[in-house]
Amino acid sequence: MAKDFSTMEDSNPSANASIHDVIAFGALAPDRRQLLHGAGLLSLLALLHPLSACATPAAARSRGTLGFTGIAAGVGDALVVPPGYISQVIAAWGEPIGIAGQMPTFRTDGSNSAEDQAVQMGMHHDGMAYFALNGASDHGLIALNHEYTDDGLLHPDGFLPMTAAKVRKSQNAHGLSVYEVKRQGAHWAMVRPSAYARRFTLQTPFEVTGPAAGHPLLRTAADPQGRTVRGTLNNCASSQTPWGTYLSGEENWMFYFGGGKDINAHHQRWGMREKSLYNWEGSDERFDAARHPHEPNRFGWVVEVDPLDPTSTPVKRTALGRAAHEGAWVALTRDQRAVVYSGEDARFEYIYKFVSSARMQAGGAKANRHLLDEGTLYVARFDANGTGHWLPLLHGQGLLTAANGFADQGEVLIKTRQASDLLGATKMDRPEWLAIDNASRWVYCTLTNNSQRGEPGKPRVDAANPRANNTMGQIIRWLEDGDFDGATFVWNHLLLAGDPTNTRAEAKGNVNGDILGCPDGLGFSPNGLLWIQTDAHATQMYKGEFERIGNNQMLACDTQTGEVRRFLTGPTNCEITGLTFTPDGRSLFINVQHPGETPTDRSDPQKPNQFSNWPDYQAGGRPRSATVVIRKADGGIIGS
Ligand code: FEO
Ligand code: CA
Ligand code: CA
Repeated sequence: MAKDFSTMEDSNPSANASIHDVIAFGALAPDRRQLLHGAGLLSLLALLHPLSACATPAAARSRGTLGFTGIAAGVGDALVVPPGYISQVIAAWGEPIGIAGQMPTFRTDGSNSAEDQAVQMGMHHDGMAYFALNGASDHGLIALNHEYTDDGLLHPDGFLPMTAAKVRKSQNAHGLSVYEVKRQGAHWAMVRPSAYARRFTLQTPFEVTGPAAGHPLLRTAADPQGRTVRGTLNNCASSQTPWGTYLSGEENWMFYFGGGKDINAHHQRWGMREKSLYNWEGSDERFDAARHPHEPNRFGWVVEVDPLDPTSTPVKRTALGRAAHEGAWVALTRDQRAVVYSGEDARFEYIYKFVSSARMQAGGAKANRHLLDEGTLYVARFDANGTGHWLPLLHGQGLLTAANGFADQGEVLIKTRQASDLLGATKMDRPEWLAIDNASRWVYCTLTNNSQRGEPGKPRVDAANPRANNTMGQIIRWLEDGDFDGATFVWNHLLLAGDPTNTRAEAKGNVNGDILGCPDGLGFSPNGLLWIQTDAHATQMYKGEFERIGNNQMLACDTQTGEVRRFLTGPTNCEITGLTFTPDGRSLFINVQHPGETPTDRSDPQKPNQFSNWPDYQAGGRPRSATVVIRKADGGIIGS
């Protein structure tokens, strides 16, 4: 979800100092460190941290190189891939998901009912993952997030007035989908009906597990036990766990609640406003936080789903903390404990990691159904000398006591932001996706932008977030000391996004190769290339500092050289997000989200295709988010 800067959340008034204030400035000025790559970086790391220098990217990796012809910046309402590649659209919003006997056809005018929508693909596709059936690269399941709705497109007459039926349809267009896919030759298609086909909406019961399950702050009139939540929402990024489940982050959940005129300090810290952006509270009272003040505490969690078991109950994992979670990504320590990295996409918020107490067991999802319920959550502090610390969010330690508002560990996890404020965590420029390079053991994170960095009354630049009025974003990376559970790390930037022809120094960036702005989606392919997807907002694009960057796009990076090459450009005003490869690396699935996004984030129902008519290009039609499958015409490895 791109965010209009006028509505974006910005709720961190905490006084935890910038690292410039608390850390003695290190050996290098931040503007120097941003430019360190390759050999210069390696020698710096050896200097700063001799134990880490033996596991640098170059030493540990000898994998994928960029083998495709880069393409020009995108213009126009089309999706473009490099010469020698083919693309195919599947699973657009409104397609029947494939539940036997319940496969209503999509109506181009948006007139499908709420009940239809509950068994059709949701709106605004985001993160997804391919789950191979029997290890196959031509037959599997896609688990997929539907981040939010554009009610201007969802209903024939748009958002106003927002009726109870429209609220139900909007809720049914949120959540998650699981659908079956199969390839014949170069052609992928949904398998319908399918025993695996499933939708998770605002009506689906989710079990709450971990230290905050049953906590008084999670109890409501409808759920006095505080252990079952109906639904998930604003699911943004996603990942697949090593034990074969799907993790999805509940991101901007605060936009769904109306807080009324008297919002308490807790909800204020999470950006609650008097009225929601969706007006669900008008006909579904649980989104009226003035009446049900604990309901918002039941969102903001990482959810875990087992797509391979259609009877499984989805779970909210409270041990991973409550946040505006973009998503969550798992690494394994050498002794097989799960380390879950996550961040929250909001200005001046934080990056987290969770380390499980137990080890992953053989036996897939069932054998590991409690793995993410017990362990320690940490928040990151990036120090100016190129090192960092993971600060434990443990009740009773340091300032995390009852005297400071944390009755128990459950409350620390429900109030992860407030706890992180007290620990002096680093306020980041909107953490989006993370990607773990299991070969080199470096962890990468996109920081998409933060136009308020350095404004009067806002946090100043720091080493990790080095640009004021940061319209372009950056990609930060770190290497843990020892194993993924390390308490300390070394870090640097893979790149600062931008266009070197811009006149403003902060918008130039240092990209080695094709220019980009607002990195968001991120992931490694089986051959070791790092794939970057962008999400500049319609209010930013095609003018000023973004004029030459063009449509949102996907690029590949060889992390050994730092070279970035443009691979795909999307249709007008879309975001490119979500990426997953088949195990053989020969099919790539990505999502085109909100083609034709309007500067106000909500389309005019009288002119639904005024900016884009992708992918159907039907007269009188409307743009639809969809999955795109990409293959090489010769069936080769993607990116090679
Ligand atoms: Fe939903 Fe942070 O993008
Ligand atoms: Ca984004
Ligand atoms: Ca995103």
